[in-house]
Amino acid sequence: MAWETIRKEATADANLVDYQAACRGFSWATAAAALDGLPTGGLNLGYEAVDRHARGPRAQLCALRWLGKDGSRRDLSYAELSALSDRFARVLHGLGVGPGDRVFALAGRVPELYVAALGTVKNRSVFCPLFSAFGPEPVRQRLSLGSGRVLVTTRALYRRKVIEIRSDLSNLEHVILLDGPSDEAGLLDGPALLEAAGDAPFTVEYTAPDEPALLHFTSGTTGVPKGAVHVHEAAVAHLHTARVALDLRDGDRFWCTADPGWVTGTSYGIFAPLLAGVTSVVDEAEFDARRWYDILERERVTVWYTAPTALRMLVRSGGELAAGRDLSALRHIASVGEPLEPETVTWGRRHLGHAIHDTWWQTETGAIMIANYRAVDVRPGSMGRPVPGIEAGVVRRTPDGAVKQVPDGEEGELALRMGWPSMFRGYLGDPARYARCFADGWYLTGDLARRDAEGYFWFVGRADDVIKTAGHLIGPFEVERVLVEHPSVAEAAVIGKPHPVAGEIIKAFVVLHVGHADSPALQADIVAFARRRLGAAVAPRELAVVNALPHTRSGKTMRRLLKARELGLPEGDLSTLENP
Ligand code: PRX
Repeated sequence: MAWETIRKEATADANLVDYQAACRGFSWATAAAALDGLPTGGLNLGYEAVDRHARGPRAQLCALRWLGKDGSRRDLSYAELSALSDRFARVLHGLGVGPGDRVFALAGRVPELYVAALGTVKNRSVFCPLFSAFGPEPVRQRLSLGSGRVLVTTRALYRRKVIEIRSDLSNLEHVILLDGPSDEAGLLDGPALLEAAGDAPFTVEYTAPDEPALLHFTSGTTGVPKGAVHVHEAAVAHLHTARVALDLRDGDRFWCTADPGWVTGTSYGIFAPLLAGVTSVVDEAEFDARRWYDILERERVTVWYTAPTALRMLVRSGGELAAGRDLSALRHIASVGEPLEPETVTWGRRHLGHAIHDTWWQTETGAIMIANYRAVDVRPGSMGRPVPGIEAGVVRRTPDGAVKQVPDGEEGELALRMGWPSMFRGYLGDPARYARCFADGWYLTGDLARRDAEGYFWFVGRADDVIKTAGHLIGPFEVERVLVEHPSVAEAAVIGKPHPVAGEIIKAFVVLHVGHADSPALQADIVAFARRRLGAAVAPRELAVVNALPHTRSGKTMRRLLKARELGLPEGDLSTLENP
């Protein structure tokens, strides 16, 4: 069924009113001029996010409104956030942690995490978030690949996920507990360190715009997770996209529901709203439909950035919870991370007063690249059009290594002309893999898409086997290598199985070692083993024991064939495909 275009809202006040004119008149140099730069020259993401505002008229404005699980709340002004992150920077400095050193965070959505992120980049160290629902194995792998010198976490998370791997982490010198002292030896009491750091301002040293600031791990089909390196000048793209794609402006109450353990939760949950000088709402609790409507209503949220899985859960919770709400403060709703079906776009219009505006980007791009804008017609099901300043194309690689754009309407790989400020600058320790992402001046995204005659982009699928479950990108190999560590598993393959709410769930197929008999108890044991090691967000939700897995002649497991069988699709062409 073709969905009708949703006409733009009456939006003469939008930051981006004339899309074509905004694209024509755009330059990154002008966008960069919206930032101050350090008094000593250079550009520092943390300074721009908080110190700049703390020195001006926004000093007393609420920067973070934190809503605790238990109903408590805490407001931090720009001045307070600047002072606290100064303290954290001083703590790092005092520990001898300096420019380029990697500071990892494993924590839920607590104010201290935001303070640590800002303090880390102000100290010119590199902030690397970990998802708090990861199990010990993904935490170990990322901390050791990233040679983390510092880990910022909580007592409970340390006990549950770090103790058992600590001896493997030879580079990890300092563990700072955000919630105070612990009986265990070798752990630092964060609040006491912050207290002792005193309140003299921290002077941010000269920071080169292309110096690393953030490290985000992401997954591919094969191999270990890749650490995408982002630099301080990503701030230019964070702020620009916050303005044009999210329509942020003075006076806004912005709520990004993504967890800061993933790239959306840092780019748009920590930095972009602060760069834009608005109030950012942070909810510590997990999804709960009533609570979410309460937050939108009570906090008078003006701009809301969320994800398709969450929206589908809201849809399923029924219309009654939305009915009678005063959502009149809400001006713009945007979504990211997975395909947003047209039904959900129009549901937003009916129940929340606004269409859901899909946006597209990925860990490597650091910021929104394609979006539906408030003042531009929305085509439900489309990701929208490139952000002014971004050239996107649908391409095919030719055998001689060149890249050719395909005609409108045809499928190809989504590509971006390289050179925007938040483009990743490397995969940590893997320059060859980084180089393979680029050809002919284009960054090749690994997504398949098509563009229509009016320049709207439509997501088709991934070119590889990575899985998007509840908006989280999971590499099948990471799951498979843990499954085969179970004593009864000889071989494993993992696919994303379509799911009405989570988009996909992780389904594992395992072959047992000779002499091991399949039983419900054994299957439950394998799943429990995977959950313990990987955490609930990464472990398979479904498991099947099979006699053999399909392989290509070169020996690779054919995940796509498993997927085709699972979906009851004809195996035809799929069976000849090698996994990329
Ligand atoms: O496949 C695309 C999908 O999510 C991938 C990026 O995931 P990640 O690096 O975890 O970044 C998440 C933060 C944006 C993309 O390569 N994706 C992202 N946005 C959309 C999407 N798929 C369909 N529609 C989208 N709007």
